[in-house]
Order: sequence, then structure tokens, then C-alpha cells
Amino acid sequence: MSKTRVGIINVTGYVGIELARLLCRHPGVDLISVTGRSAAGQKLGKVFPHLAGIALTIETRLGEVDLAFSAMPHGESAAEVVPLLERGLKVVDMSGDFRLKDAVEWQSWYGHVHPMPDLIKKAVYGIPELHRREIKETQLVANPGCYSTGAILALAPAAAAGIIEPDIIVDSKSGVSGAGRTLKLTSHFCEVDEDVCAYAVEGHRLMPEIVQEVNLVSQGSAAKITFMPHLIPMNRGILSACYATLKMDKVVGNNPKEYLKRVYRDFYTDEPFIRIVDDPPHTKQVQGSNFCHIYTTVDSRTGKLIVLSVIDNLVKGAAGQGVQNMNLMLGLPEAMGLDAPAMFP
Ligand SMILES: NC(=O)c1ccc[n+]([C@@H]2O[C@H](COP(=O)([O-])OP(=O)(O)OC[C@H]3O[C@@H](n4cnc5c(N)ncnc54)[C@H](OP(=O)(O)O)[C@@H]3O)[C@@H](O)[C@H]2O)c1
Repeated sequence: MSKTRVGIINVTGYVGIELARLLCRHPGVDLISVTGRSAAGQKLGKVFPHLAGIALTIETRLGEVDLAFSAMPHGESAAEVVPLLERGLKVVDMSGDFRLKDAVEWQSWYGHVHPMPDLIKKAVYGIPELHRREIKETQLVANPGCYSTGAILALAPAAAAGIIEPDIIVDSKSGVSGAGRTLKLTSHFCEVDEDVCAYAVEGHRLMPEIVQEVNLVSQGSAAKITFMPHLIPMNRGILSACYATLKMDKVVGNNPKEYLKRVYRDFYTDEPFIRIVDDPPHTKQVQGSNFCHIYTTVDSRTGKLIVLSVIDNLVKGAAGQGVQNMNLMLGLPEAMGLDAPAMFP
């Protein structure tokens, strides 16, 4: 049986090349076309020697594929995606262009009028753990942001169980690949090494995605989320520490910590990529893998829920989740091509 032909727009960025790494060994699809402005005409394996075994030339335009990933920057991606949808292709958009359901809110975070507001309704926000059924049916997946993935997975079970107050704090630390491959002063080695800083302190554009998705599952009032991203000197990984006041009257039994664990284990039963772990997780435990490790506890002095999540921003936070969504869209086993354990150390 012939395999589905897939392609990647913008293989020259970190997300694009991570997609290529995952798709080149995926048993259910053939990666047949990749594009990249700065390297068009060159062999993929020459530009990226870690993928030297792939016999593909980087093109200026995507070839004849059935499903495409757009790994373009936000604001640029929508224009690439529309003609593909018109040609009948399935598309996984890795950018922020179709993630928010409200075009006015999108404008306020992205700084210009949304180019295709009608398509926002068509797109499905690609967190399989929350939207599996819709992802299977859609032509367009808006793949979530990296910070958003870690935070939403950490908060969804508590929000759905109605056991937290709406005031939530998400404190996240990200490796530098989260800022992309485009050269910037703030990601120079000398600026990042031996340094930690908070940034986008007045508001980060991935925050409204977290609010949108937490509110969708929430049993309580609308969430008010304070989100504080930090840049730390490592290549990959995001640790998110989430805090909210527990509604003690909603806790069943007399052991809140145990109850919380049960709520999370029940919510993620049979999820192939979520592990509720017994010790505070490390980013290294998921590096290079599509797993999200989640640790829950309760601060008994303050009555606060504490949830820690770790993901690899380029895998579960981007390319891996994109492939997971592709599997669902194509009717393939959801975990196909994503079963590799993390790299350690
Ligand atoms: N990095 C992450 O952890 C992460 C996680 C989730 C989602 N995302 C999203 O995924 C997308 C790709 O992210 P990334 O981290 O891979 O970005 P990136 O590494 O910064 O790649 C961007 C690449 O896009 C190309 N580019 C820049 N401006 C362009 C333009 N105007 N037109 C065409 N190409 C342009 C450049 O390649 P050329 O020089 O070859 O043109 C550049 O290398 C973004 O939308 C990002 O928000 C990123």
C-alpha cells in the first residue's frame, strides 16, 4: 500500500528540522519534499549533517504532497497554509496563526489584523489529550505553542475537576531553542550562558492560548492566569511550575495529595505520552522524546496546588506533537514514529 506523502515548509528552522528528524524514520508516511529559503537547491544532509542519510534536496516550493507541515514564523504561515488547504491538502500549522479562536484577541497579541479570520473556526487546536476527536476530522490543525503545551497539560485535570480557584500562576523556564534559529542578540552564547532572566513580563503571546484551553475544560469561573516565562542556559526543554489555590471543600477524602494524584491519573488514563510521576521531574527525563512528565502535590501550609510539568519544547512542544496530530488526521496509530525514549544524560 502506498504511504501518505508529506512535506515540510521551512525545514531550515529548528521546528522544521526536528520534523524532518522524526518524519524520516516514520513507518507510516514518506517525507518527500522540504522547503527552505536560505538553503534552496542544497542537499538536506549537507545543510544538516545529522540527517546526512536523507536523500532530499531543499526546494523553494513544496512538491506534490498529501499533508504538509508549515514551520513558518507566525504572521507568515497563514499565507502558506491557505493555498494548501485550497488544493485539498491536510495541514499542520506549527505557528501561532490559527491557535486563538478570537480574531480580535489574536490581533491584540500579534500586532496586526488576522489575515484569515474565517479559517480560525476551521482550525482545531492540536492538543490530542483534549481534542482528539476533532483532530481526527479536521483538515487544519493549529499546533500549540511550546509553553502552552506544558502549562495546559499541567492545569487541565485540576480545572476539569473544578478543584482550583481561577487565579493561577504559571512560572516556566525554557531552553534557548524555544526562541528559534533566527539570530538574535538575546540568544548569543555569551548573553545566555550562566544567566537566567524573565522576559515578556508584561504579557507573552502564548498566555491567551493557555487561558483559552483551560477555560474550555474548566468547571469553575474563567481562569485568570499570570504567566512568567524565563530563559535559561540549556538547548531544549521547558519546566512549568503551576500554582493555584485548592478548593478544599471539593477534595474527596482526607489526603489532598493522594486525591490530586488520582484526579491526574484518571484524567490521563491510557494517554500514550503523559506520565504522572512520583518525584519532581527534570527536563532531561523527556529530552528528545514526545513525553510530558507531570508531578502534583499540595502545599499544606498555604492550601496551594503545585503542579510541575516538563516537555521537550521541540518535540511534545512542537514537532512531536505535530506528528502525533498527523497520525490522528491520517488514521494511523497515534504514537507511530514517536516511541523513542528520552536521551539521557
Ligand atoms: N522553537 C520552538 O520551540 C517552537 C515551539 C513551538 C512552535 N514554534 C513555532 O514554529 C514556527 C517555527 O519556529 P522555529 O523555532 O523553527 O523558528 P526558527 O528556528 O527561528 O526558524 C525560522 C526560520 O524561518 C525562516 N524565516 C524567517 N523569517 C521568514 C520569512 N519572513 N519568510 C520565510 N522564512 C522565514 C528562516 O529560515 P531561512 O533563513 O531559511 O529563510 C529561519 O531560519 C514558529 O511559528 C514558532 O512560533 C516554535
